[in-house]
Amino acid sequence: MNKKIQIGLLGLGTVGSGVLETLLKKDCGITIKKIADKDTDKIKQYAELSPDIFTIDAYELINDPEISIIVELIGGVNPAFDFIKAAIKNKKHIVTANKELIAKHGKELFSLAEENNVVILYEAAVGGGIPIIMPLRQSLAGNKITQIAGILNGTTNYILTKMEQEGSDFEDVLKEAQRLGYAEADPAGDVKGHDAAYKISILASLAFDKNVDISSVYVEGIDKISLIDIQCADEFGYKIKLIGLVRCDDDETLDIRVHPMLVSKNHPISRIDDVLNAVVIEGEPVSRVMFSGPGAGKFPTASSVIGDILALANEICITDYPLPMMRYDEHHKRKNAVIKDIDETENKYYIRVTTTNVPGVIGDLGLICGNNGINLYSIIQKKVLSDGSAKIVLLTESAKEKSVRKAVEEISKRPTTKTVNNLLRVMD
Ligand code: HSE
Repeated sequence: MNKKIQIGLLGLGTVGSGVLETLLKKDCGITIKKIADKDTDKIKQYAELSPDIFTIDAYELINDPEISIIVELIGGVNPAFDFIKAAIKNKKHIVTANKELIAKHGKELFSLAEENNVVILYEAAVGGGIPIIMPLRQSLAGNKITQIAGILNGTTNYILTKMEQEGSDFEDVLKEAQRLGYAEADPAGDVKGHDAAYKISILASLAFDKNVDISSVYVEGIDKISLIDIQCADEFGYKIKLIGLVRCDDDETLDIRVHPMLVSKNHPISRIDDVLNAVVIEGEPVSRVMFSGPGAGKFPTASSVIGDILALANEICITDYPLPMMRYDEHHKRKNAVIKDIDETENKYYIRVTTTNVPGVIGDLGLICGNNGINLYSIIQKKVLSDGSAKIVLLTESAKEKSVRKAVEEISKRPTTKTVNNLLRVMD
């Protein structure tokens, strides 16, 4: 780099401090001109820095003519959205890790950035330290992407892995994860799948060049997964993972969703455990590639943020039109995605039912599936429980979701059915 690039850092939380500490150690031609955080206590641990570089006023950075890149690491929509819009209007390039903001307001922000000839980079928004946004936009640009499937949330992957490895219940592992600081005090965003939904929506927009309305994405979390489901899945040769999935059908509709799935142990993504994330991209001509690594955390996420800062800083030094492949092509006008209703999707299914242990129950279940056009792959009675009820698991061949839901409704109304415990989708 032939000139010093000055940046402003908004937010000195976990990721912000990771970025600051890494940049302080690394001589890469980047100067942190100012840092804004509303909590002034956070700055006390950086005694080596002049107090002048800290402020509680984000607009000191946004309005500073010497700052060319604003690094937003506050998270959430407000006030980050207003700060970023104001910075763009002031011709600042943006680096952010804010998946919620990009998923909900990316379209508006990218348009505004084009109008102002600045670039928004957000590698850290998906998969923490895993490089996925730039590879998808650049290295894989020659492909027709057919499917993306990802483990996009570390907290839920940690919980599912511990349930499987330690034979613990969901609630116990969640409490342990909170104690260790892996899960937030309010874990709903992770556990109920919303965090993964932001991330798969961002990947879908890039891969299929469409605006995805996040409110139309079907989302189910892992809070209904019990240890019994994990143990049954294991016996059938599967692990249970929270998967963000997107496919583009021939008619250009997007099948995009987040839900737990039984994933075959032969699928490479089934081996991604603990807090790790992975993204599997299928396309022509590449076939299948998998990116995996730490999906969250101070320094892994800082790695992606700093990569974006350096990519921008190097380009700004040599051109007035930096990183054309990372821009939102305003002339080409991205279409709004038509999203397939979950009822219309096709999957293989796992259905776990508790029934009374009387003759003909399995025959009844098979008949209901047959009458709804569902081909069974396997139906087994696992055992008879101490209260005399039978635990039965069905695995289906590929079927339409609405047929399976109808069959499940009919099963639940049978007098011999005590409970339909779970309905999960299967990925081979
Ligand atoms: N809370 C997220 C996770 C990390 O558990 O993966 C940030 O997106």
